[in-house]
Amino acid sequence: MNTVIVGTQWGDEGKGKIIDILSRKVDFIVRYQGGSNAGHTVVTNGREYIFHLIPSGILHKSKICCIGNGVVIDPAALIEEIKGLASCGIRVDNRLKISPLAHIIFPYHKVLDKLRESKRAHKIGTTGRGIGPCYVDKINRCGIRVGDLINPRTFREKLKDNLKEKNEIFKKVYHHPGFNFNLIYKEYLHYGEILSRYVYNISALLNRAIVEKKDILFEGAQGTFLDIDFGTYPFVTSSSSTAGGSCIGSGVSPIKINKIIGVAKAYATRVGEGPFPTEFAPAFNKFMREKGSEFGATTGRPRRCGWFDSVMVRESILLNGITELAIMKLDILDGLKIIKICTGYKYKGKVFKELPYELEILAKAKPIYQQVPGWKDKISGIREFKRLPNRAQDYILRLQDILEAKISFISVGSSRDEIISLQVFRKQLD
Ligand code: IMO
Ligand code: MG
Repeated sequence: MNTVIVGTQWGDEGKGKIIDILSRKVDFIVRYQGGSNAGHTVVTNGREYIFHLIPSGILHKSKICCIGNGVVIDPAALIEEIKGLASCGIRVDNRLKISPLAHIIFPYHKVLDKLRESKRAHKIGTTGRGIGPCYVDKINRCGIRVGDLINPRTFREKLKDNLKEKNEIFKKVYHHPGFNFNLIYKEYLHYGEILSRYVYNISALLNRAIVEKKDILFEGAQGTFLDIDFGTYPFVTSSSSTAGGSCIGSGVSPIKINKIIGVAKAYATRVGEGPFPTEFAPAFNKFMREKGSEFGATTGRPRRCGWFDSVMVRESILLNGITELAIMKLDILDGLKIIKICTGYKYKGKVFKELPYELEILAKAKPIYQQVPGWKDKISGIREFKRLPNRAQDYILRLQDILEAKISFISVGSSRDEIISLQVFRKQLD
């Protein structure tokens, strides 16, 4: 069984926790897009792990974790992550495999990311990790890949070629001194040496695994509305964070994917700029941000918070072909008097039940809400759906109705075991 996990909102839905839980049942876990802009948090035995590049399944000792061709790799960040895991007693040798086709992030990508951002009239609020500029080079066919990094001669040639053009642009357009070839060459050659032991033909590995009836979990980063095509462009990331990205970014055929699990928060959050129709007013935003610890796992930036937007999540279900949903952080809604669910938008007298693609409409539309009463009790200790307060059950059932999709997981706390899961839950609903 090959399963894709995707974010259905703007990232930070809690994908890390679902991946961690499902990793137990699979043999391979694969990251297929994005880079160290992602921040996937897993809490286990009171310890918090934040992953940026390595699939969060690495915490399960016997699993093989792959970084596919679709990912952009900051080698320093990756090595840091490997070391961090080693210091917690988690060894990745023989379990971490990196595609030679994945592109490498260089210092000039990170600097350019920040320079572009500072000059933009409408800021995106990028993570500054060099993601966009690295993907630009990939599409522009001048990128440098993992396979190049471990071949000193090719690497020298490609880096020289890149710096020649880039340094001129840095100097003339951005009044930046540019980058020294020798410094980068030496630094990155060293990274190449460290990483070479992990380089592996990922598509061959995964396709062989499929023949052997092994199970694969594809770990999406970011969320549907940060997708380069279907997101709230230009306030998006530079990769395909929808389910299709799993095939392009790993070399596995779409015909081999069996299941797509969408992850959604019980409310909504967004980091960075861009339209957010259901965003709370400032005071309530601050209250919910603190209640939900909504601060970016990568940049530490405060996340913007809002009500659950079913128009967007319904669109996500379509775009990704989601077969089941995980609803995360339901416990954060504990103690609220009322809870709202957005079911449409109103703009210039017109009602939208489907997501409008014109950014202006999305930015200015007024959400149409259904209201449900909240519950008082704390729900973190609950492991069975029928033990949830009636109003919490009603909220989940209402979501399921509106979304016309099955909910298979409900997260009621940050820790690995604070989850109400499929087997118990499904039987009660069907
Ligand atoms: P995970 O995997 C939330 C956002 C940034 C910015 C926009 C573009 O943890 O869900 P980029 O640096 O990618 O060019 O920034 O995308 N963004 C994320 N927001 N979670 C993420 O990843 C994100 N990755 C990028 O805040 O608005
Ligand atoms: Mg994140």
